[in-house]
Amino acid sequence: MQAQLKLQEIFPGIYSYGNRILTRNLAPGKKVYGEGLFSISGTEYRNWDPFRSKLCGAMKKGLKKIPINSGANILYLGSAEGTTISHISDIIGENGIAFGVDVSARVMKKFLYLCETRKNLVPILADANSPEGYAEYLEGTKIDLLYQDISQKNQTEIFIKNAVAYLPRNNYALIAIKARSISSEGDTKIIFENARRELEREFEIEQSLNLAPFDREHEMVLCRRK
Ligand SMILES: C[S@@+](CC[C@H](N)C(=O)[O-])C[C@H]1O[C@@H](n2cnc3c(N)ncnc32)[C@H](O)[C@@H]1O
Repeated sequence: MQAQLKLQEIFPGIYSYGNRILTRNLAPGKKVYGEGLFSISGTEYRNWDPFRSKLCGAMKKGLKKIPINSGANILYLGSAEGTTISHISDIIGENGIAFGVDVSARVMKKFLYLCETRKNLVPILADANSPEGYAEYLEGTKIDLLYQDISQKNQTEIFIKNAVAYLPRNNYALIAIKARSISSEGDTKIIFENARRELEREFEIEQSLNLAPFDREHEMVLCRRK
């Protein structure tokens, strides 16, 4: 006899279902990146793939807190085609808003389609190196969480600049650090240590997690602005 799978809320708006992680689909019937859809007790959920999304990989690796609630305002740097931010869109729901910043016009094209079906997503084609470039979009919005996944040599500098510009003190931030964008050689442990030391200028670090096997040579850092 097959065991009945149980849906359990593990963080606000995030559910475990057997060994899967699911979010409730804000746009029922629509997939974003080919993920599986599950109808459970009359509600549709989307499978969140840890090999496609570093935030899901971090959860699988034991991230102790996901500072995203229903109705939250998120600034997401490096939104790309929208894989991870689509799950954030599910979690924050209709009363939240997630600004997705990306410098690539190619990925933004696909993200724009997603923003048409998900009204809580705002696309911003801009370079996150210059946070003042999108000040007009964020005016009057208090950011609850800064999230960054940008593979640039100066990724920690970009993150700090944006926090200083838009993240109120004591609010949470998550950064996915890609070691090999910072340096193509050397021990990744040292690269991560140096990056964390740089972050400590502006943040209190609460947790850092190596994302293997989901993403090699990446670390997710959960921190809070001082
Ligand atoms: C690894 S992908 C992000 C994947 C995405 N976070 C997800 O999980 O769905 C990194 C993205 O950062 C963007 N990027 C790189 N440099 C940037 C910059 N200076 N400003 C804004 N976006 C940038 C790239 O265009 C790319 O789409």
